[in-house]
Amino acid sequence: MLDLGINRVMSRMATSGMLAMLVAFGSGQELAAQQSVQFASASSADAEVTFTADIAPILQANCQVCHQEGAIGPMPLMTYQDARRWSARIRNMVVTREMPPYQYDDDVGIQDLKYDPRMSDEDIATVVAWVEQGSPEGDPNDMPPPVVWPDPTAFRLADQFGEPDVIVRSTPYDVPAVGQDRWWQPVVDAGIPADRCIRAIETKPSVEGRAVAHHANSNWVGGTTRVQGMLSEYALGKIGEIIPEGACRTAPGGAQVRFDIHYWPNGVDVVDDQVEIGIWLHPEDYEPEYQQNLTLYYLNGGRGYDIPPNGTLMTRGIHQWDTPVRLDSWQPHGHTRLVAMSMEILRANGRTETVSMVSNWSALWHHSHIYDDDVAPLLDVGDKVILTGWYDNTENNRYNPDPDQWVGIGDRTADEMSHAWIAVTHLDEEGFQKLTEERQQRLISQD
Ligand code: HEC
Repeated sequence: MLDLGINRVMSRMATSGMLAMLVAFGSGQELAAQQSVQFASASSADAEVTFTADIAPILQANCQVCHQEGAIGPMPLMTYQDARRWSARIRNMVVTREMPPYQYDDDVGIQDLKYDPRMSDEDIATVVAWVEQGSPEGDPNDMPPPVVWPDPTAFRLADQFGEPDVIVRSTPYDVPAVGQDRWWQPVVDAGIPADRCIRAIETKPSVEGRAVAHHANSNWVGGTTRVQGMLSEYALGKIGEIIPEGACRTAPGGAQVRFDIHYWPNGVDVVDDQVEIGIWLHPEDYEPEYQQNLTLYYLNGGRGYDIPPNGTLMTRGIHQWDTPVRLDSWQPHGHTRLVAMSMEILRANGRTETVSMVSNWSALWHHSHIYDDDVAPLLDVGDKVILTGWYDNTENNRYNPDPDQWVGIGDRTADEMSHAWIAVTHLDEEGFQKLTEERQQRLISQD
């Protein structure tokens, strides 16, 4: 539904080559120029930086999962020739933190995240120094051995949990070699007859599909228990989700799963592609202490709004729960006028804390930011979550398809959306005290 809207906008941009152009020549580049000053000064310009000794390991660790034959990146970044040809763009993309793709501010809020692909400032400075020194190759003997990538046909969490109890497959879809990007939203039976607690989830594209499956989300439809919201979220590079011990994310019995797969034609014909979701269940007699669910929280109170032509807007949603809670993950959602979103906590005593901020939103990517166990925010009754979104309908927003339109909330291309998916563990007062104390103990023992 909603993403079909972006599909058309993005396709239009992609068709006209506008998106690529804007990424290449728009504000990104100016930003790159400004920021490279900061990174250049951080690098010791005198020490020689070479591809084989310094850059190849960085590309292996941060880029090749997507930039190799048969993956979603538009070109491989495996050899010196690959990297040399793209060196200026590589520099810009890492300095602006557009690559590796992960929209999350690194100077406010919680920074300890699971599956965090962001590059260190040091590695960025190394890339900048390499390009500024003329991108030398260096001694071939310094070249690290190629990475042995995990078997793409295997579930990676199988090492930890064995084969999944249930595998849900999207219905086959043909992705042409050339064309506009597209969304595929089949609804299939989950094959779980009665309510169960999920232990872990892994979404896995097919081997050929890795080249074209940009991201894939999944939601429950129907079933005996109403579970609002999402089963899981996926973008290449993510391994899976493990539900915190003691909590239950319910798989509703007899339910169906609706996929929301973003395919991106990438030069190869992929016939009958299927995305698989592996689900590991707790035993039937598992007695969880708490319920965890992944549901949608609005930023506009569910009401409408208008963003004027060439104008901007801010919307805000305030949420609270009738029990203490722990926030396990956060995933902002918007279309092309959304430029930033934040999540704050307003404590009952009046203090505010910024939890997370995304000030470089891109509707091309959908990432769930999963907090490390020791920092996942704990909220007592009376504490509130404030979600704020900023929209830019001017030409300064490089993703804006048409600044002269009025934009309202809705599912279509031209419309905007404003919500966030938050995985919440619903605690009781005793559990809240226990988790708070355990965390304090760990902090003390670390000092
Ligand atoms: C999660 C997958 C993924 C990872 C990891 C990733 N990329 Fe990309 N990259 C893409 C995709 C998809 C595109 C094309 C769409 C876009 O620009 O967002 C792209 C585009 C690019 C481009 C622009 C190509 C052009 O046509 O102008 C460059 C340069 C680039 N990536 C470099 C890198 C570097 C360097 C790294 C590691 C530091 C990296 N990428 C990590 C998926 C990835």
